[in-house]
Amino acid sequence: MTMKRFLRKFAKSGIAALACAGMLLTASAVSAEGRIKWWQTTAVYQIYPKSFADTTGNGVGDIPGIIRHLDHIRSLGAGAIWLTPVYSSPMVDNGYDISDYTDIDPAYGTMEDFDRLVTEAQKRNIRIVMDLVFNHSSDNNLWFQESKQNRTNPKADWYIWRDAKPDGSAPTNWRSIFGGSAWTWCAERGQYYLHTFAPQQPDLNWENPEVRRALYDAALFWLDKGVGGFRIDAIPYIKKPAFRDGIPDDADGLVSIHTMTANTPGILDFLHEFKNEVFAGRDIFTVGEANGVQPKDLPRWVGENGVFDMVFEFSHMNLSLKNGETWCHPTPWKLTELKAALNATQEATRENGWCPVFFENHDQPRCVNHFFPEGADREKAAKAMATVLLTLRGTPFIYEGQELGFSNVAWPSIRDYDDISSRGQYEIALKDGFSPTEAMKFVHFFSRDNARTPMQWDDSPNAGFTTGTPWLPVHDDYALQNAEAEARDDRSVFAWYRRLVEFRRSHPALRAGGYEELLPENEQIFAFLRTVGSHQILTLVNFSLEEASIPEEIIAGRKLVMDSEENGQKTVLQPLEARIYEIAKQEGSAR
Ligand code: GLC
Repeated sequence: MTMKRFLRKFAKSGIAALACAGMLLTASAVSAEGRIKWWQTTAVYQIYPKSFADTTGNGVGDIPGIIRHLDHIRSLGAGAIWLTPVYSSPMVDNGYDISDYTDIDPAYGTMEDFDRLVTEAQKRNIRIVMDLVFNHSSDNNLWFQESKQNRTNPKADWYIWRDAKPDGSAPTNWRSIFGGSAWTWCAERGQYYLHTFAPQQPDLNWENPEVRRALYDAALFWLDKGVGGFRIDAIPYIKKPAFRDGIPDDADGLVSIHTMTANTPGILDFLHEFKNEVFAGRDIFTVGEANGVQPKDLPRWVGENGVFDMVFEFSHMNLSLKNGETWCHPTPWKLTELKAALNATQEATRENGWCPVFFENHDQPRCVNHFFPEGADREKAAKAMATVLLTLRGTPFIYEGQELGFSNVAWPSIRDYDDISSRGQYEIALKDGFSPTEAMKFVHFFSRDNARTPMQWDDSPNAGFTTGTPWLPVHDDYALQNAEAEARDDRSVFAWYRRLVEFRRSHPALRAGGYEELLPENEQIFAFLRTVGSHQILTLVNFSLEEASIPEEIIAGRKLVMDSEENGQKTVLQPLEARIYEIAKQEGSAR
């Protein structure tokens, strides 16, 4: 029996984890730590600039606003900022539709502001990570403007153009991710073009080497400015398969483009070239947005022979979407499924590889609503999720507001929502026969605007986000829940995050340790060990709204070092309680 299976067998029955610890400690802490890179030991903070801080009073966040609040990020302890797109854009999809890859949108500031951001962040030991949106550009991009003119211009082949079917309809029956056909007719050129997302986001043709070169040059432009890495957007879609109809998966007669095109064989050839031309040998990190790449595929995407340092793998985020990406057929799920999904990523990267740990981003609902039963106490849920986030193996990504425990909004009408995908999904729900009230329930749960309400800095009007009218309403809980109030309160969600970030930074098992799940069949508790050398950490989190009893054996001989509830009951976790234990320090232990 392998050591892993041996441990699992015992862990399953809830006993003897500690007894195994000594046998597990094969890797020396020193050598494991020696291989660790800067981006593996830090936390990354994600900023959605439009919603972060406005310094001009126009209601839209900007780069000077980010500079103004860098100390908030420093005090959290994050060493990198992933900046969602700040490039020139008509903002149909809030910057994920880029009209110029090497310029800053005036709504966000100037190139001088950007340079100042890099410098000011560096002074605080924070590196700026840019978002590369290379599957598609904006239809306003000069490349597309030229491409659409006719079939013979120099950029004619920079996008994906196809003739209509004989009856004049679209070349295939694919549904774009935001809803509606993935093809739009261009009268000027007399052809359809493909767009995985909105019609204003035409897909670039990666088969054309000139396109790839232009994209690589854009990335190199930002590297010359001293950025610390890249998040690479929507990358599974860059390689297109044969253009064939699929079996319709919904009442609209279309089939999800994701099912038809994501992760098409040959994609990794493009990405190896991308890596060699742009990233290789630099002290930066890359993280691909790889929805649809399964844990079993990870060894080909990350690690020594992979194409990126990390990829966002979404199976734990998509548990409610097992019926496909439309929001109106959500599926219920259990804690064991969440644990199994997270575990699969941990296992797939155990020997060779690394992944981000994340529970929120600008496309997802807030984690306190997403992962906990209705009625869960927001602060307790936020601390519980933070504890998992900061103690799993991988680089933790914290999305703006998550560190303050932000929750979802529920506005009455679809007209209150800005998010292009919420509008598309609302229409799909109506077409599927749901009433407007039912359709709004799906929007309330899934809308990307949940994550895009403005940051709440203090209790002044509009939460200190803007002196004007915010582009999206501020959450109405801001008077109590804001950065200033939470920084003063040592029992706040923010205080808990700060403690966790510091604990993770200073503890060898969390920096460099391996991962073992305990109690995999338990429907209340998420429990796991992190171990390196003689250092070991045990995390226990109760995801339920009931008390949960802890098998005594798994905590025997351990010292409780962090507890979100401090309830004093040794073997009972209160609802949503999170605890961290370590092996009681041995004589002469080198911590
Ligand atoms: C990614 C982004 C999302 C965007 C889409 C199209 O999924 O995270 O916000 O709408 O790509 O670029």
